[in-house]
Amino acid sequence: MKPDLKVKIGRLELKNPVMVASGTFGSGEEYKDLLDLNKIGAIVTKSITLKARKGNPPPRIVETPSGMLNSIGLQNDGVEAFIKEKIPFLKTIRSAVIVSIAAHSVNDYVKLAERLDDIKRVDALEINISCPNVKGGLEFSREPVSAFEVVNAVRRKTKKTVIAKLSPNVTDIATIAAAAEDAGADAVSLVNTFTGMAVDIDTKRPVLGNIVGGLSGPAIKPIALRMVWEVFKKVRIPVIGMGGIMDSDDALEFIIAGASAVEIGTANFVNPKAAVEVIDGIERYMRQGRIKNMKELIGCLKV
Ligand code: SIN
Repeated sequence: MKPDLKVKIGRLELKNPVMVASGTFGSGEEYKDLLDLNKIGAIVTKSITLKARKGNPPPRIVETPSGMLNSIGLQNDGVEAFIKEKIPFLKTIRSAVIVSIAAHSVNDYVKLAERLDDIKRVDALEINISCPNVKGGLEFSREPVSAFEVVNAVRRKTKKTVIAKLSPNVTDIATIAAAAEDAGADAVSLVNTFTGMAVDIDTKRPVLGNIVGGLSGPAIKPIALRMVWEVFKKVRIPVIGMGGIMDSDDALEFIIAGASAVEIGTANFVNPKAAVEVIDGIERYMRQGRIKNMKELIGCLKV
């Protein structure tokens, strides 16, 4: 019997629990010749802001042992260009579309949510309250009060599924997740990147133009997994897990620890077909273990 991979995130039903993470997959079109986009549970697009942003000075990416530091600085063309230039392609695919939004103020998050609310092809909003790379600070998820404020303001303005993307650069991520839940989030996604830096010992200068950046990739997986488990125990809304997932075994670890869905990020740069391979691997595991549906698997960790 074919296992049922469907999962629900708020009112949104995904055909499988595998998404591609914001910032690692453009707006989908960039990958159209590399894999079957229609197989992916959801595409999370690169964070957009109200106005276009040039991003941070280069270099903006550096490879690290088992990982990658980025300091892109939310480069994007702004919400109007996104609607005009990216939505037409997204209308041609059958996967769910989750648009990541970022802003410097609660008011700007609200304006973005309002602008996107009427765009039918947008199935959900992932509120990026955790970008570590922008001066002035966009990490509203560093404190429960500011996380609550942003999520609640967006919740009041949109009928779409709302996902709060959380920062791992905090003392207790479960408390922040609970604040997002109280504010009306339909789900939380975690983790965004860990702040880090690299130094060029010849020039004695920082490698990244922005000095610090966000660490992703396999190096962070065990920490991200621990955080997903802690949040799963604390909240009742679905948890979307990410952080160094490279293959289906990694994804299954997150799901068993409590993730209702997973996001594939850095792996897309190494293997553009990673998301589809993860879906196939999860299905194979379920078939072999006679697991009928995702409910049997999510959070089944034996402790
Ligand atoms: C960036 O554009 O700097 C990365 C976005 C993020 O980490 O949220």
